[in-house]
Amino acid sequence: MSVVEDVKSRLDIVDVVSDYVPLKKAGNSYKAPCPFHTEKTPSFVVTPARQSWHCFGACSTGGDAINFIMRKEGLDFGEALRQLADRVGVEVRSRSEEQISHEDTLYRVNKEASSFYQKILAGDEGQAARKYLQERGLDAGTAASFELGMSPRGRDRLRNHLAELGFDLEHAVESGVLIKRDNGAIQDFFFGRLMFPIHDRRGRVVGFGARSLDGSEPKYINTAATDVFDKRATLYGLHKASSEIRKLDVAVFVEGYMDVIAAHQHGYANVIASMGTALTDRQVTAASVLCKTVILALDADAAGQQATMRSLESSWKALEGRKLGQRTKTDLKIALMPQGTDPDDTIRQDPTLWEGIVDSAKQYMEFAIQATVSQIDVSTAEGKATAVAVLKPTILSETNGFKQEEYFEMLASALGVTREVLKVSIGNVRGLRSGPRTPAPSEPEGLSNRVFSGVDRDPLEEYVLAVLLHWPDLKTHAADHDGLEFVQLENRLVFTSWMDCTTIESLRSQLDEELHYHLDWLLDLDLGPVDTGSAGKAVKQSLERLRQRYLKEDQAGRLETWSPPKPNSEANPDSGDLEGAIVEVNKRLRKSYHTA
Ligand code: UTP
Ligand code: MN
Repeated sequence: MSVVEDVKSRLDIVDVVSDYVPLKKAGNSYKAPCPFHTEKTPSFVVTPARQSWHCFGACSTGGDAINFIMRKEGLDFGEALRQLADRVGVEVRSRSEEQISHEDTLYRVNKEASSFYQKILAGDEGQAARKYLQERGLDAGTAASFELGMSPRGRDRLRNHLAELGFDLEHAVESGVLIKRDNGAIQDFFFGRLMFPIHDRRGRVVGFGARSLDGSEPKYINTAATDVFDKRATLYGLHKASSEIRKLDVAVFVEGYMDVIAAHQHGYANVIASMGTALTDRQVTAASVLCKTVILALDADAAGQQATMRSLESSWKALEGRKLGQRTKTDLKIALMPQGTDPDDTIRQDPTLWEGIVDSAKQYMEFAIQATVSQIDVSTAEGKATAVAVLKPTILSETNGFKQEEYFEMLASALGVTREVLKVSIGNVRGLRSGPRTPAPSEPEGLSNRVFSGVDRDPLEEYVLAVLLHWPDLKTHAADHDGLEFVQLENRLVFTSWMDCTTIESLRSQLDEELHYHLDWLLDLDLGPVDTGSAGKAVKQSLERLRQRYLKEDQAGRLETWSPPKPNSEANPDSGDLEGAIVEVNKRLRKSYHTA
C-alpha cells in the first residue's frame, strides 16, 4: 500500500471536512454551504462511501481529503499529505527517493541472480541443461544473448551466494528470487530449472521464467508480482526486439519464451511474447507505439475460443483507442499457426514456412468475422442474429467509414445476406455512435468491456481536455463548468480531477488506475500547431458547445431518472433534491463504469 493510500485509509473525510465546515447529513451524504465560495443554498456534498467531496455550485470541483486540505490550507500535494499523515500517525518519507532506491535494490538482486544462474549453466552442473538446449536447436550464442541460466538443485545456493555478497536477504525475498517459509527460513525460490531472465524495455532484469527439465509440472514457474515486475505490463524480449520492430514497422507476438528465442536466433528479431497470460491492452499498446503493424501469431486450437476472441477484441480496442493520438495508425493482424505447432517448431522446421505464415496474416476484422461465423450455425436466422450481435460492437467502433463499409461487406457475405439486410439488423448505425454509454441490449455479456472504445468516443470532449492538460492556465475558461457536460464518464472524471490539480503527476495520483491509460492517451493527442491564444478561444467555444449539447440532450430526457436542472438552480427551492439527484447519477455512472 502506498503512503497516500495508507493515510487515506486511516482517515474519514467527514472528520477532515468537519473541522472546517458544519456538515449536515442528507441521505447517504453530507451537505454544507461550500467553504470555497459564498452561497446560500448548500451545494457542497461529502460522500463517505467514496471518501470524496464535491461542490456542485460555482466551484464545480471536488476531490478527496488530500485535495480538500490542499485547497483549504493552500498547500501543495506533499504538504497536505504530510499534514494529514501527522494527524493519523503515519510517517511520510520522501516517497520517490525511497521508492527509487528500493527498486534499484531489486534490480541489483535480480541482476546478480541472473549472472549466478548463467555461471551455473556454464559449469559442471549445467551439463544436462546445455545438452537440452542443444537438442532444441538453440546455439550457445543465442543462449548467452538471452542470458539463459540454470538454477542449481538444493534450496540454499543462491541464498548463500547473495548473503556472501552482502545482500540483505529480505530484499532478495522481495525481488522474488528467494522465498520466506512460514517458519521464517529463507530459501531459493527456483531450483533445478532452466532460467529465462525477463527484462524490462531498458534491459533491466525484472523477473524470471523457470522451465522444468525433467517433465515435472508446472512446466514454467514465473516470478510473482514484485515492485519491479508486473507481468501484465511486460513483454518478453522487447529489450532485444524494439529496434527491429521500429525498423520493420512490425511487431510479432508469440506465446512462449522459446518461441521468441528461436525467432531471434533465425533472424526474426521483431518477435516478442506476452507472459503466458492473455494479452493485455497495456502490452499491445506498448508495442503499438513502436510500429504500424502488430501481428499476433495464434495457436490454431485457441483461435476460435471465446477467451481468445475476447482478449483479441480488447487488444483491437486498445489499438483503436490509440489511433486518435497517433499520426500513424496501428493495424492488428492475426497469423494462424498450423494445427499442433508453435512458432518455435515451425521456425526450426522451416524458416520460410514461418515467413509465409506471418506474411499471410489476416486483418483482425476479417479473422474475427471468419472465426465467429465458423463457431455459429449461420444458416439459421437465429445464428445470423447471434453472429451480428457478437460482431456489432467491434464493427461499429471502427471510426474509418471506408473500413467500416468493408467490414459490413465481409460480414454480409459471410452470413449470405445483402449489406442492406445486415445494416437493418444492426440498426441505426450512426445514431449509436453518439448515444449514451449504456450497452445496446442485444450485446452479449463480456463484450461490453468497452471503456475506451470508439463507439463511446467523443472527439470534442477529448479535444477540450487535451488543450486544458496542455495549457493548464486555460483552466480559468472552464472555471464555471461543472463537468456534467462531459457525457463520457472517463472524460468527466479527468476534467473534474484536473480542475483540482496543478500538476499532471498529482492528477495521475488522483485518478483511478484504470483511467491512467485514458489520461496518457489524452496527453498524447496531437493538437497541431496552435498557440495559447487560439487554444484559449477554442476551449471557450468548445466548452460552450458541450454545455449547449448537454442542456439540449438533457431536456430530451437523456438522463431519464432525474428532472433536468432549472436554469437558475441557485434560487430554486428544490435545488437540494437536484444535487442529491446529481450525486446519485454520478454514483450510478461511476458504478457502471467500474463494472463495465
Ligand atoms: P508453452 O507451454 O507453449 O511453452 O507455454 P513454450 O514456451 O512453448 O515452452 P516449450 O517449448 O515447451 O519449452 C507458452 C508460455 O506460457 C507460459 C510461459 O510464458 C510459456 O513460455 N507458461 C506455460 C507458464 O507461465 N507456465 C506454464 O506452466 C506453462
Ligand atoms: Mn514450445
